[in-house]
Amino acid sequence: MTDFTKAARALTDLSGKTAIVTGAARGQGAIEAEMLATAGASVLLCDVLEDDGIALAARLTGQGLDVRFRALDVTCEAAWQAALDAVRDWTGRLDILVNNAGIINRKIIRDMSVEEWRKVMDVNATGAFIGIKLAAPMIAETGGGSIVNISSNSAFSGHYDPAYTSSKWALRGLTRTAAMEFAQDNVRVNAICPGLIVTDLNRGSPHLAPMIGMTPMGRSGEADEVAQLVLFLASDGSGFITGEDFVIDGGFTAGAGYRRVAKETGLL
Ligand SMILES: NC(=O)c1ccc[n+]([C@@H]2O[C@H](COP(=O)([O-])OP(=O)(O)OC[C@H]3O[C@@H](n4cnc5c(N)ncnc54)[C@H](O)[C@@H]3O)[C@@H](O)[C@H]2O)c1
Repeated sequence: MTDFTKAARALTDLSGKTAIVTGAARGQGAIEAEMLATAGASVLLCDVLEDDGIALAARLTGQGLDVRFRALDVTCEAAWQAALDAVRDWTGRLDILVNNAGIINRKIIRDMSVEEWRKVMDVNATGAFIGIKLAAPMIAETGGGSIVNISSNSAFSGHYDPAYTSSKWALRGLTRTAAMEFAQDNVRVNAICPGLIVTDLNRGSPHLAPMIGMTPMGRSGEADEVAQLVLFLASDGSGFITGEDFVIDGGFTAGAGYRRVAKETGLL
């Protein structure tokens, strides 16, 4: 017989679990970290923005949440190892990794230098690779858990941000590859592909209004809506889901281009 109370609680209860969220000093990462901590997890907030991260950790600790901040540049393997060692000393286990850190460089291919391309790929794709490589074995040690990679809905089409878009496609491939490798360890790996969420990544961009105008639901998403999906994928409530992409974009990827044609031709 299904214990429905237990099954429902599994969706929202992370007590006893430990999580790492990268890029957690601000934006979506900060909200994801607060969501996981509110669900009962001990959360290590990691970012290159030390002042913001320390201030956020102090605020969340003041709310009674079990969080710590640690400076981490996700492109640095030694810093990743030190962060994992710190988690081992703190709670002795790791259950959840959210690879959320990301940067963007809005230049078309002919204007982008190789160095600019490499920088975006390094943070967005290689950073997640190092995190998975070092964290998945530690997650496996205590029976398994969940890795969530924050990709983008730009990873379903061509886009005007060549390095960003390529890095986010790479994350989808890395997600599936890692899911295959670590399934036997009960480590699930999934990707979330948000559409437009207004944060410091894009605030003030001229792309915001046209993108919202094309989004079927007629608005941008909220960071806490993405964080709710992170919570679901981090929780035992998603225990049979691995290697998947979850688009959360108000219907944009589902067919915004065709919808625009339908509107312009009077069908909608
Ligand atoms: N905002 C959107 O519309 C949108 C849409 C789809 C996907 N995303 C993705 O969501 C994630 C979060 O973005 P956001 O919108 O909150 O932007 P944001 O700029 O507010 O947050 C990104 C965070 O990553 C951190 N970071 C950057 N480089 C780092 C590094 N080398 N090591 C560690 N941390 C680093 C930044 O300091 C920042 O705190 C990113 O991966 C982004 O690509 C954003």
